[in-house]
Amino acid sequence: MTRERILLHGLRQSTVGHTAAGLWRHPDSQAHRYRELSYWVETAQLLERGRFDALFVADALGPLDTWQGSVDAALRDGIQTPTDDPLLSISAMAAATERLGFAVTVSSTYERPYQFARKLTTLDHLTDGRIGWNIVTSALDSAARNLGLDQQLPHDQRYLLAEEFMEVVYRLWEGSWEDDAVVRDAAAGVFADPARVHPIAHAGEHYRVPGIALSEPSRQRTPTLYQAGTSRAGQAFAGKHAEGVFLSTYEPAGARALADGVRAQAVAAGRDPSTLKFLSIATVIVAPTDAEARAKLADYEQYASVEGALARWSALMQLDLSQLDLDAPLEHVETDGIRGMVDLFTRIDASRTWTPREIARFVGVGGGGPLFVGSPATVADGLERWIEQAGVDGFNIADPVPPVTFRDFVELVVPELQRRGRVWREYDGETLRERLQGAGQERVRDDHPAAAWRRAGTHA
Ligand SMILES: Cc1cc2nc3c(=O)[nH]c(=O)nc-3n(C[C@H](O)[C@H](O)[C@H](O)COP(=O)(O)O)c2cc1C
Repeated sequence: MTRERILLHGLRQSTVGHTAAGLWRHPDSQAHRYRELSYWVETAQLLERGRFDALFVADALGPLDTWQGSVDAALRDGIQTPTDDPLLSISAMAAATERLGFAVTVSSTYERPYQFARKLTTLDHLTDGRIGWNIVTSALDSAARNLGLDQQLPHDQRYLLAEEFMEVVYRLWEGSWEDDAVVRDAAAGVFADPARVHPIAHAGEHYRVPGIALSEPSRQRTPTLYQAGTSRAGQAFAGKHAEGVFLSTYEPAGARALADGVRAQAVAAGRDPSTLKFLSIATVIVAPTDAEARAKLADYEQYASVEGALARWSALMQLDLSQLDLDAPLEHVETDGIRGMVDLFTRIDASRTWTPREIARFVGVGGGGPLFVGSPATVADGLERWIEQAGVDGFNIADPVPPVTFRDFVELVVPELQRRGRVWREYDGETLRERLQGAGQERVRDDHPAAAWRRAGTHA
């Protein structure tokens, strides 16, 4: 077995019910504290204590209103509704930590690239190179409607728009200011040398940005880039742009297939595929013994909400599952979306009869990925086996009973993984990119498309 370090990201959203609907009702859950700065600061410090590489903050720009065509179920269970902005707590977390990275979700479909580039550069300044961007194209009709459209742009068109968005932000981040443009020469009265700051003159199909970047370059220049596309267009996008790729599958073979698909796209884009790092969603319920861990899971399961889970899945699939009989086997339903769902769950367990209610129970605590339950040694064995079988680099650890599930992981699993040489005891490198690409690699690699916009006078 290889003994490579396992990458660890913590997965959160600024909301009450994220991966596991209903669990906010557990007496130990502090999910309702998502509005408090102290909740985020404590989380960041906890993850840094566990030597996590980064906190990944997911986001959605509209309420979940697909189930029964209404937002009621999402509101009742607090599933991603309400949800706060993911960017605004980052500075406070950065001030309370030294090395933890922050991968934050922002939609290329609804931002404007000029102001967005400045926002992320600002965060890269304030975190001293610890910011990452999870690029999403967004999939909720509710977001489109509330942001001024009658309905969403078609799926592949959102990715085309994202392509141009990336070109604009790369040009702003890499191609506007030379490294030594800021001279800060008080005697000569020159802060920045105008000859070394260049307008990007972008005039494309969707965006026109004639001017210079408004921010001077930050430590990483381009923030560390993440993506989680699974469609053809999504995989091509990830292969071209992503440095970290988030995966959501229930069995390692599925993760391997997705990762291989993205790696092939990276090769097609002229990149070294080994520099893309893959992180599988996982939920870990751990206790000193296997029996105690199973009891903990049984306790959590009592709080899982079937309606909430199905409402979440309905939004993910943009398909109202309330139209189905919750206790009828899904294989009898003949629509493309449902077929995909049946295939997915049949691959997990072909012997089981999958009804909507069974699926809701299955994902009740584990959300969008595998559930590892047991003692620290049992969990570490399971995580190592998954890494081996899926050919991925690490995990995006969910926190269904925040912050208890994170804390259990940090206190019980991390020491076991450290003992096995799979999690480091001290961080190496300072910026987020160095976590993924190795110490010394603060800027995008030369084979990344952002590097094409570098000017003479800027350095990798
Ligand atoms: C682990 C993971 C996290 C994701 N987080 C978000 C998110 O925070 N916000 C969002 O709008 N989409 C999120 N997505 C959705 C993806 O960006 C993507 O749209 C989805 O996987 C479907 O792929 P496609 O866009 O190629 O069709 C996430 C997906 C995965 C697998």
